[in-house]
Amino acid sequence: MRSAWWALIGLICIVPATAFAQEISSVDLVPRPHDLRVGEGAFELRESTQIAIEPILPVLDIAAYLGELINTRTGFATSIWTGVPMDSSIVLSTGLVNDNPEAFELIVSPAEIRIKGAGPGGLLWGIQTLRQLLPSAFEDRTGEQRDSWWIPAVEIRDKPRYAWRGSLMDVSRHFFSVEFVKRYIDLLSRLKMNVLHWHLTEDQAWRLEIDQYPRLTEVGAWRTEPDGSRYGGSYTKDEVLEIIEYARVRGVMVVPEIEMPGHATAALVAYPELACSDPPKEVPNDWGVFPDIFCAGKPDTFTFLENVLDEVAELFPSPYIHIGGDEVPKDRWRDCSPCQEIIEREGLGDEDGLQAWFIQRIGEHLASRGKTLIGWDEILDGGGVPGSVVQVWRDQDTVREAIREGHDVIVSPTSHAYFDYSPAALSLEQVYSFDPALGLSEEEARHVLGGEANLWSEYITEANFDLQAFPRLLAMAEVLWSGSGDFDDFKSRLENNAYPRLRAMGVRIGPEDSDVVRLNVGTDAESGEPRVRVETSVDGLDVRYTTDSTSPTTASPLVTDSTSFVEGDQIVLGVFADDEPLPIRREFSVVDHLARGKSITLQHPPDSRYPGPSPSALTDGLLGSADHRDGLSQGWWEHDMVATIDLGEEREVELISTTFLRNLRAWIAPPDTVIVEVSRDGQNWQPASKPVGRISYWVNGEDVSRENRVQWGNGRYREVVRYIRITARQDQLPDDHPGAGHAAWLFADEIVVR
Ligand code: ACM
Ligand code: ZN
Repeated sequence: MRSAWWALIGLICIVPATAFAQEISSVDLVPRPHDLRVGEGAFELRESTQIAIEPILPVLDIAAYLGELINTRTGFATSIWTGVPMDSSIVLSTGLVNDNPEAFELIVSPAEIRIKGAGPGGLLWGIQTLRQLLPSAFEDRTGEQRDSWWIPAVEIRDKPRYAWRGSLMDVSRHFFSVEFVKRYIDLLSRLKMNVLHWHLTEDQAWRLEIDQYPRLTEVGAWRTEPDGSRYGGSYTKDEVLEIIEYARVRGVMVVPEIEMPGHATAALVAYPELACSDPPKEVPNDWGVFPDIFCAGKPDTFTFLENVLDEVAELFPSPYIHIGGDEVPKDRWRDCSPCQEIIEREGLGDEDGLQAWFIQRIGEHLASRGKTLIGWDEILDGGGVPGSVVQVWRDQDTVREAIREGHDVIVSPTSHAYFDYSPAALSLEQVYSFDPALGLSEEEARHVLGGEANLWSEYITEANFDLQAFPRLLAMAEVLWSGSGDFDDFKSRLENNAYPRLRAMGVRIGPEDSDVVRLNVGTDAESGEPRVRVETSVDGLDVRYTTDSTSPTTASPLVTDSTSFVEGDQIVLGVFADDEPLPIRREFSVVDHLARGKSITLQHPPDSRYPGPSPSALTDGLLGSADHRDGLSQGWWEHDMVATIDLGEEREVELISTTFLRNLRAWIAPPDTVIVEVSRDGQNWQPASKPVGRISYWVNGEDVSRENRVQWGNGRYREVVRYIRITARQDQLPDDHPGAGHAAWLFADEIVVR
């Protein structure tokens, strides 16, 4: 409606200077403004447009940014004036009276544009709003030149709901170039997001140059990939300063994360003396939670960490430093006499107490450098750090716990903020329903600083980063700035304004609620056999396949509309953008059997993060890979899998088999017990097997088996049945596992019945 209305105004009221004169952007902004009034007419941005400012330095900076923005696309040499505004001016000032420094007022009339911020931050967000009011062609650097650009008359009064609107970029699992990091900062700023949480260290890499410990990056930034190639990279201090300055101009604070005491294998490979005992010799090239952590019992560990943090504190102007603190397996500390001596000496009780003591010590050191510690919510275990900020990720109930213990909180739960998950598991609509202050009193909610979208990069590289970030980042930006709203209205604003704008910038937008690659299983009308077709919902991607278990290359056959796979095919799919491989691999086989396509009922639905390709994933005829993230298996946590299949009629059955995944690094274990029952009427059940006992898979702390799929089957069996019920009991992680005492994840794939 609005865009049509504006097109009309353009045609009637404005004398077209060029063929594009009537092109006026929709006012469908993201994030949604607090108060928007549409006026009459439009402002013409042209060669003679000037920027008028109050002569104060932060405003001068912002004016220069706006001038450059205009010049880059239009070629107009927009000059900056202090004093009396001239004709056709954009007037910038910071005099707005509002207790929120990020508040602003943007008034566009045919005569002039006025942007007034409560502080420099507000002024900058006014400029980012103005940018969204230009036609999307303004964002296309390769587009045609025009003599003028039209901006619809509006009055906008706006301010953010939360002060902390961030995104985590994990540059450790995969490396991202300086240019790519800057590009992301620019995208964040356009959406009025103001924090880049830069995850710089991990098990798989240390990316930040530290003068006193050169081996951190010489050794710790490089790993040997399974194919033998070397992979890595790091940032020099000059590059970091360049990024910080680029972000500052765009209103984005860069908050570094230096992980401790866990997720530190790369540092321990570089400096093995900081571990409790022999750490690995090689930087890991796979994913998960690793047992080697910084030794809490050695004074050298603290000398090292304090020296590192001193360099970090000096480099980064951010008043916050994130120290991780998540997923710390305690088994090395349990076996280490210096660590045990500290527990004894300090009366810490146990290893949780030791972790709390460790983090408190680091917190005190940061405080002495004028910095506030941020840690993941595990820093609450065993007693928190006074004055620290807690970033909640495990589940949102922890938000209240952290606030009651006196902390301010950043909220980024797996349920809404883990953008490394497939959109099939975390959809755009789910992100849009995010409420960081869910269930909190008004007083409690004051301690919620805001939230973050987390882009963990095990399966993300520069090639598919956009597909994971977008469109969900638009939802996160709106939720944190404006609060959630009407989803249909949000979607129409995406279609009318945000999507064309992002595409004009060259941003690739991923699916809203499905996997990038979709497998559709149908049944051939003539033969009754399964036929699998493949599609991608993203324009411009090519899907290629192999049938010999190798990874597809650009020479492999292309999947087209007419490609289909049949019973017995073993397929590996790869996805390519402009002939560059994306880190998306799908491995599956097609199996036909009696239960395929038959009704299946699950007593507990799978965890929302691992829903599988459909509710009937266990009987869809598709058998996925051992990778639990391939979207083809379903995952349960703290629930057994109880599946009941109705074959539709009585059939003679001689085999019932299920595949379970095993990946102890990812806390996935096969079930403790599997019970199979059968029935003719769905009422009276009888066992089809004795329960299968515990499967032995964990010896002396090492997962000795190379087989990470466990098939449970019963082949010496013949009976006429209609209903089959399989109960797979979730296991506890074994005693010598870092997560001992916790439930294991249970992942199941196709239940094959023959
Ligand atoms: C986390 O996802 N381990 C913070
Ligand atoms: Zn130790």
